[in-house]
Amino acid sequence: MASLDLQSVSRRFGATRAVDGVSFSVPSGAFLALLGPSGCGKTTLLRLLAGLERPDAGCIEIGGHAVAGPGGFVPPEARGLGMVFQSYALWPHMTVAGNIRFGLRLRGLSRTEEQARIREALELVGLAGLDQRRPHELSGGQRQRVALARSLATRPALLLLDEPLANLDAHLRSVMLAEFRRIHAALGTTFVFVTHDQDEAMAVASHVGVMNAGRLEQLAAPETLYRQPATPMVARFVGAGRTVPVEVLGRHGPDCKVMVQGHVLTVPGAAPKGQGWLCLRPRDLVPAADGPILVRVLDAQFRGGQWSVSALLDDGGAAQVDLTLPHAPHPGEALALRLTGGWVLPRDSMALAPAMAGGVPA
Ligand SMILES: Nc1ncnc2c1ncn2[C@@H]1O[C@H](COP(=O)(O)OP(=O)(O)OP(=O)(O)O)[C@@H](O)[C@H]1O
Ligand SMILES: [Mg+2]
Repeated sequence: MASLDLQSVSRRFGATRAVDGVSFSVPSGAFLALLGPSGCGKTTLLRLLAGLERPDAGCIEIGGHAVAGPGGFVPPEARGLGMVFQSYALWPHMTVAGNIRFGLRLRGLSRTEEQARIREALELVGLAGLDQRRPHELSGGQRQRVALARSLATRPALLLLDEPLANLDAHLRSVMLAEFRRIHAALGTTFVFVTHDQDEAMAVASHVGVMNAGRLEQLAAPETLYRQPATPMVARFVGAGRTVPVEVLGRHGPDCKVMVQGHVLTVPGAAPKGQGWLCLRPRDLVPAADGPILVRVLDAQFRGGQWSVSALLDDGGAAQVDLTLPHAPHPGEALALRLTGGWVLPRDSMALAPAMAGGVPA
């Protein structure tokens, strides 16, 4: 088992800050998902954990042992970790058993112990009996299972997965996702799982980190990330949120009073008096005859049995919101809405406590 502790870890490539001052801690046995737009530094962070890259600054501890930083550098093979990539990277000329055995080489295991590890890993990933097949005789999902088995056979304390499901179709992705969850629960190994797909991340992870331009915007439990985004980027990125500029009149316990279109509304939030953002998801807005928020319909699409509607706040500004309606609205139609949720955050997200922006959830 391995906890992870990163302190101000940075890695540059020329002028690109691929990973920029990232700090976080997750406990042993965590299932950490890393999310973020393409090029935000997810793979680089994973490679830093693996020891395939060296940080320019900062330090990394795995299981309480410093593996990179001023104190020295532990090479990948001595970090007790496994890696699974999108591309599987199986040897085409070797059998399934041969591929797994290849991962065990140099470990000084007896032949009997090797066989036992191979059998155990194949059972764990649901491929018992396929040990003599070659990769071209397997489906995409089965190949991904072999790649997983190859890593698991080494009994790593930490498993790093870089978009392992990206080559699979939607059905197989969800089957494999459930498998990852089952295997994680069975082994208690710490998983770090990079994905583009936030539904995937939210479904399996105990902790989700959102990265943007090399920085870690927030690391929290999935529900916290969704309900209490620490930055406007997280608010927009997670759960199709929209951010509307508002004036925050003050804080009252867990709520903020905000001024929207001349109405004072009470909304959950963590912003001081001043300029703020109101984060709204489609489910936070419902039509109501006397609703305080007036919008005009921009566009509507029929999805999942309902109409997904985007609308412009009717206050002369450019702020948009999204909502769902049971019936098709007309383009340009005026709607009155009331709030059923939402989250207020400061316009300057640095004003939030650092523990919220990058720390560990309680
Ligand atoms: N070896 C390298 N040399 C130069 N630049 C690099 C190198 N590796 C990564 N980068 C740059 O660092 C940034 C982060 O890249 P990284 O691969 O970590 O992103 P990512 O979040 O994994 O993206 P994706 O979701 O597309 O896989 C990008 O701008 C990328 O071009
Ligand atoms: Mg990547």
